[in-house]
Amino acid sequence: MKITVVGAGNVGATLAQRLIEKDFADIALVDVVEGIPQGKALDMRQSANALGFTHKLAGSNSYDVTAGSSIIVITAGIARKPGMTRDELIGINARIVREVVEKALSLSPDAIFIIVTNPVDAMTYLALKASGLPRNRVFGLSGVLDGGRLAAFIAEELNVNASDVVPCVMGEHGGSMVVYPRFTTVNGKPLADLVDEEKQKALAERTVNGGAEIVGYLKTGSAFYAPSASVAHMVKAVVTGSGVQMNCAAYLDGEYGLSDVVVGVPVKLGRTGIQEIVELPLNDDESATLKTSAEAVRKTITALNL
Ligand code: APR
Repeated sequence: MKITVVGAGNVGATLAQRLIEKDFADIALVDVVEGIPQGKALDMRQSANALGFTHKLAGSNSYDVTAGSSIIVITAGIARKPGMTRDELIGINARIVREVVEKALSLSPDAIFIIVTNPVDAMTYLALKASGLPRNRVFGLSGVLDGGRLAAFIAEELNVNASDVVPCVMGEHGGSMVVYPRFTTVNGKPLADLVDEEKQKALAERTVNGGAEIVGYLKTGSAFYAPSASVAHMVKAVVTGSGVQMNCAAYLDGEYGLSDVVVGVPVKLGRTGIQEIVELPLNDDESATLKTSAEAVRKTITALNL
C-alpha cells in the first residue's frame, strides 16, 4: 500500500514521519518547493536504522512518486497567520487544492482523499466536486482535532487522562464549531453531568479558539503536532479497516436535515473511507446550533463560486 502526503510543511512532514514510523505503507511526500520534500524524506529515511521501519519513503516535486496511492492526504496550502481568519485563506488554498486533486487523482484513480487544508469544510466540498468522486472517498480533518483539543482541556480540568474522554465536536472546523456536552463522555459519563454549564461553556470556548491559542504562541505558523496525529488516526482507521467512529468533515445528503454541504459529523471509517454517517439524537437546540454552523460553511462554499 502507498499513502501520499501533498504539502511537506509542518503538518505534512510531521504526518509523513508519523505514518512511516507506523510502518504499514510506503509514503510519497510531494511539495512545490524544490528540495523540501527530497530533503525531509532523505532525513526521515536515515531514521529507519534507529527506528526499524521497513517501508519506503520518497520525496519529490513531481507526482510520479504518488502513482497508485490508496490514500492521498492534502495539506498543501498557506497556513493561517496570526490575526488571519480561515476564510481569508480561501482564494489561495482553493486554487492549490483543485490543482492537487486533479494531478493526484490522474495517477491514483482509486484513492481516498483526506483534506487538511483550511478552511477544511469548504476545501473538502471543493475536492469532492473537483474530483467527481463519491462522498465516502473524500472527507476532511475536523472533529478528531477539535475533539482532541477538548479532550486535552477536560483532562486538565477533571484530572483524568485525555484517553478517558470521548469528545464530540461537530459542525464547521472554525468559529461556529459546536461542542456537545451530552455526547462528550468521560469514562462513559456525559460531560454535561460532570461539570456545570459555566464550565461547559468555558471548555467549549477554549476548544473553538484552540487553533488560535497556538497561533498566538507560535507567532508564525500554526498547530501541527495534534493535526498530524489526528490525520494519522484517521489514516489508520482506513488502512486497518477498523470501522472506528470519529468526527470528520463529511458531505451531507439529508443527514441531520442538511444537504449539499460539508460539516463535521460522526462517521465510521474503514477501507472504503466513510462507511456510515452516524446520526446522533440531537435535541432541538443542539440541532439548531449544527444548522447555524452548516450555514457558516455554506457561506464559504458560496464564495468559492464553483
Ligand atoms: N502543491 C504542493 N504543495 C504546496 C502547494 C502546491 N500547489 N502550494 C503550497 N504547498 C506547500 C508549501 O510549499 C508548504 O510546504 O504546502 C506546504 C504547507 O506547509 P506549511 O506552510 O508549513 O503549513 P502547515 O502548517 O503544514 O499547514 C498546512 O493544514 O492545518 C492546515 O491551515 C493549515 O491549510 C494549512 C495546512
